[in-house]
Amino acid sequence: MSQGKRVGIVGAGNVGATVAYSLAMQGSCHEIILRDNKMDVARGKALDMSQAAAAIRSHTVVKVAEDMSDLSDCDVVVITAGSPRLPGMSRDDLLMINANITREVISDVAKYSPNAIIIMVSNPLDAMTYVALKESGFDKNRVIGMAGILDSSRMAAFIQEKLGYGGGQIRASVMGGHGDDMVPLPRYSTVAGVPLTDVLSDAEIEEIVTRTRNGGAEIVGHLKTGSAYYAPAKSTTIMVEAILKDTKQIHPCAVYLEGEYGFSDVVSGVPVMLGANGAEKIIEVTLNDEEKNMFKNSCASVQELIDSLNKNDFFKGE
Ligand code: 2OP
Repeated sequence: MSQGKRVGIVGAGNVGATVAYSLAMQGSCHEIILRDNKMDVARGKALDMSQAAAAIRSHTVVKVAEDMSDLSDCDVVVITAGSPRLPGMSRDDLLMINANITREVISDVAKYSPNAIIIMVSNPLDAMTYVALKESGFDKNRVIGMAGILDSSRMAAFIQEKLGYGGGQIRASVMGGHGDDMVPLPRYSTVAGVPLTDVLSDAEIEEIVTRTRNGGAEIVGHLKTGSAYYAPAKSTTIMVEAILKDTKQIHPCAVYLEGEYGFSDVVSGVPVMLGANGAEKIIEVTLNDEEKNMFKNSCASVQELIDSLNKNDFFKGE
């Protein structure tokens, strides 16, 4: 058992590597263990990052897992492994490919880091979080999906762009799944405490809502050969740090619902309190009828993916 905090990262592509770099630069943990099928790429990135950590006199060391068994005794394991979303591909197209990858990876994580908190980043995010929960057999507080922080940050950035002021003072709120029918909540979004509805017109807010829903696709459209990674990685890092530091702060995350908001046996994005035990508490926000309806539609989309996995006997034998 190592001393200090250990974070495992499965998938050393753009998102995984940027999570590792961000954690190393903040000295958030003692060790970061990178795992990727492309071993040489992982080795090169780990060396490069350890040297960056040395440059800033950070104590964090970045290592490579030569085998999944090296991913042992981690406090947190971040899963970014999966096929990337390419132009023209919806998040849902990735379903079967990434469900199989997730299953394989999670069974090893559960074996070698049985006490870890798992943070899922692979798409389609909510369904992969569901798969990870079922495959790991972990309690639901220990399997959490990253998306709400990302989607809320996108909305905040669009609000700032539209307003032309208020940077750093915007609290945007997005609930629901990380899909095209995510649920941006202008009523719960503020600029220095001022409701968004007081500073922007309905049409402007609608534009921001639509752009937020398409936030991932907008970036894919520019990059052409890949998807966003700076904001996804930073959002993941925020979750890792909240867990390692046991902050008990509230962040929107994808978690398994058991009656909250009227839904069960599905994963969706809701505000949760993050601490050393993962998603320690789900906060139930009062939604109006329109918002409830949007949340319902979003849960239904995630449910469709779970149903499709079931139809393909994905969970058979459990
Ligand atoms: C994103 O929203 C691809 O889901 C990823 O950028």
